[in-house]
Amino acid sequence: MLVLVCHGPECGERRGSAAVRAAIEAELGRRPQGGVEVRVDGQCCFGRCASGPNVMVRELPPGEDRAPRPFAGASRGGTLYNAVVPSEAARIVEEHVLGGRIIAAFRRRGPA
Ligand code: FES
Repeated sequence: MLVLVCHGPECGERRGSAAVRAAIEAELGRRPQGGVEVRVDGQCCFGRCASGPNVMVRELPPGEDRAPRPFAGASRGGTLYNAVVPSEAARIVEEHVLGGRIIAAFRRRGPA
């Protein structure tokens, strides 16, 4: 799985997405991952700046490179969570990243 945390100017500088990313990485460090390959990376941006901090979770196809992707190619069928706060990192990791279940309550939050 790939977890992309937006570090754009709104999500990052104004809304503190670095703390969200740190919380996600800490949660991953605390849990056995049961053979699930997980990578956390940054993305700028998802075009939903007013709803940030935004975090996308999506599949990580084998062999996918680490090259930065333009916004148009960022989603690849992923799930975008909006207005994420550090205390929600545990649920994102446990339920979606490791458990494969999308958290509907964390989607479509904030202005469109
Ligand atoms: S700055 Fe995060 S979506 Fe644009």
